[in-house]
Parts: sequence; structure tokens; C-alpha cells
Amino acid sequence: MLDLERQYRGLQRELMAAIGHVLETQQFVLGEQVAAFERAAGSHLGVGHAIGCSSGTDALWLALAGVGIGAGDAVITTPFSFFASVSAILRAGAKPVLADIDPVSFNLSPAAVDKIFRGSGGRAVKAVLPVHLYGQTADPDFFRRIPREYGVKVIEDAAQAWGAELPGEKAGSLGDAAAFSFYPTKNLSAAGEAGMVTTNSDAIAERVRALRQHGMRERYFHEELGWNARMDGLQGAILLVKLKYVEAWNDARRALAARYHALFAQAGLAEPGPHPQQGVVLPQEAPGTRHVWHQYVIRVRRRDALRDFLAERQIGSEIFYPLPLHLQQALEGLGYKEGDFPQAERAAREVLALPIFPELRADEQETVVTAIAEFFS
Ligand SMILES: Cc1ncc(COP(=O)(O)O)c(C=O)c1O
Repeated sequence: MLDLERQYRGLQRELMAAIGHVLETQQFVLGEQVAAFERAAGSHLGVGHAIGCSSGTDALWLALAGVGIGAGDAVITTPFSFFASVSAILRAGAKPVLADIDPVSFNLSPAAVDKIFRGSGGRAVKAVLPVHLYGQTADPDFFRRIPREYGVKVIEDAAQAWGAELPGEKAGSLGDAAAFSFYPTKNLSAAGEAGMVTTNSDAIAERVRALRQHGMRERYFHEELGWNARMDGLQGAILLVKLKYVEAWNDARRALAARYHALFAQAGLAEPGPHPQQGVVLPQEAPGTRHVWHQYVIRVRRRDALRDFLAERQIGSEIFYPLPLHLQQALEGLGYKEGDFPQAERAAREVLALPIFPELRADEQETVVTAIAEFFS
């Protein structure tokens, strides 16, 4: 599914030198390497402030708290994401309100969000938290029409979307604040846990910097309740090395996605979506956007049987995500039930992520598609 060693072999010398530098300077928490990464990351994304932190989950909480979301506020997000998209809202003391997804993009549906705002539940909503799922930016409505129309803040969950773009603008610069994850499987990855908040607001950036250090502006004087959410110097140094390559890696992912598309078409398996009948529904890139293919996710009817068939042939695949968030035991208290979000529930039954990482070889992709063709024959 993912061979991280191939990337490491190509960068071994540079990474070892960067790690050596941190050990020499002994700046283990924040420090000059984290600051250098923050500057480089901010200019890469075209955003005023980039603030390194300890994980994508912490970045989500910092972004929410940084824009002023707290007790009594409601935040709209998607039920079809990683758990942290919702748990971070609860951690900020706010109430998650879920809305269904668009079945083609798998991202939060603006029409479903409009429905909430037009109903009685819309009054407490202070923010919307769209997720750029699988490396595809959420609908442009979330960054233009919706904040204007309803006067709410927008926090991007950009954990899976380093380098993804709407026309002329990168993920991370679209909302009031954004959260990135550098978990080792991500397009830009640390050697452990790390994350980042981005924002164009000086005030939000200043607050996030304080919140990631227990709400301290002056050493040992705590103005508000923060947390220890700092980035390690080693992760900053490693990310600074990898940042130089991430655009080329994203280009490689785009080429791999185009090759998967061509291989499925040649095999006669591709069928129009959004819902599969006899064959495979391929993922789509919205016109004018830049998808960075964190995942290449197909939809099929007999998904679990296909996954077992591939596993027997030593072919990795993954399900992101098998159970929508409104049906998770830990979130029972939100009061949702099966049937509330039919598109998310159907996606959870049909999606299958295939291997995609920059160093994946053409022959390996052919093996994957040949095996899927065999399953369908
Ligand atoms: C969509 C999404 N949000 C949030 C996170 C949380 O990031 P982390 O694992 O770095 O805490 C992840 C990554 O796992 C993710 O995929």
C-alpha cells in the first residue's frame, strides 16, 4: 500500500545531515529548524503565517481555538473523514453538527450545509470545517459564498491536502485558518508526529502560537488555557528537507492517478458514477482544481470481496473510512442514527483506496489493475 523506504533511500544523506544538525545545536523543541520550516512552508503555500505543532489533531484544535470557537458554539463538518475532524471540535468545547457529502468528490456538500443554516439548528453555528479529503480541495462555496452569506468562520482540515489547489489558491490559504498533518503517510511527512496551523490573520497566528505553549506569552504567565502542542526540532529539520521535493512528489502522484485512469479504461472496467453497478467508479478531479492524490479511491459494489481477493495476491488496499463518524460509538452522544447521512454511509460501503505513492512503479500499477480485472471476470 505504501513503501516509505523508497523515499528514505533517495534522501538518506540529506536527512542524516539535518538530524545531525539538530543534535549539534541541541534545539529539540521548536528552535531554529522549526522556525526555518515555518517560514519556508508559509511562503510555499502563499499564506501569511505557518505555525508548527505536534500533530494534525492538535493543529485542528489550535485552529478552532485560535479563531475563537468554544463552549456554546456549533461547528458544521462532514461525517466522512478521519475521527479527528469531529473530536477536535469537541475538544474545543464546541458541538459538531454533521452534514452529508457529495457522492462524487466525497467532500462536504454545500447544499447539505445550506439546509442546516436555513433550519433552526443554524443559529448556533459559528464555523464550518470542510475537509479536503483524499487530497482534493473542498467545494469553493465554503471559502467564498458560505462565509459571506452566513457570517461564519471557516477552518480547513487540510491534513491530506498539501499542495492541493482551487484556481489560483492553495489549500491552507482558503479559510480563516487551516490544519495540516505531517503523519508519516501524508504527502509531506515527518519521521513521527507533527502538524501545522496556517492563517493569514496576524491575530489568529499570535493566539495559536500562545495556545501551543500552554497559553503563555510571557514565560510562566498563562493568560488562557492552552496545551503542550509544540513541534520537535527533529521534525522541523526533516520537514524542511522534504519540503523541497513535495511538489515533484505531488506531480508524480498526479501522473500515477492519470495512469490508473488509463489502465482502468483500457481494461473496460471504468463506469460513470457516482454509484457503481457492474464495474469500477473512478475518482474525479473537479475542473480547474489541482488534486494531489493523497489517496486514489475507487468505488465498487462488492468492495470487501475485492479487498480480500487483492490481499490474497499480496496487493495492499485500504478503506478510508469503513464507519462514518456519526455511527462511531465514541460519538453516540451527538444523537445521530443510521440513515441520517446516506451518501456518507454508502461511500463507507463502497470505497477502496489503491496503492499510490510517488515511487510506485508502472509495473506495480499494472499488477493492481490486472488483478482487479481478474476479480471482475
Ligand atoms: C482528514 C484528517 N484530519 C485530521 C488528521 C489528524 O492528523 P494527525 O494524525 O497528524 O493527528 C488526519 C490524519 O490522520 C486526517 O487524515
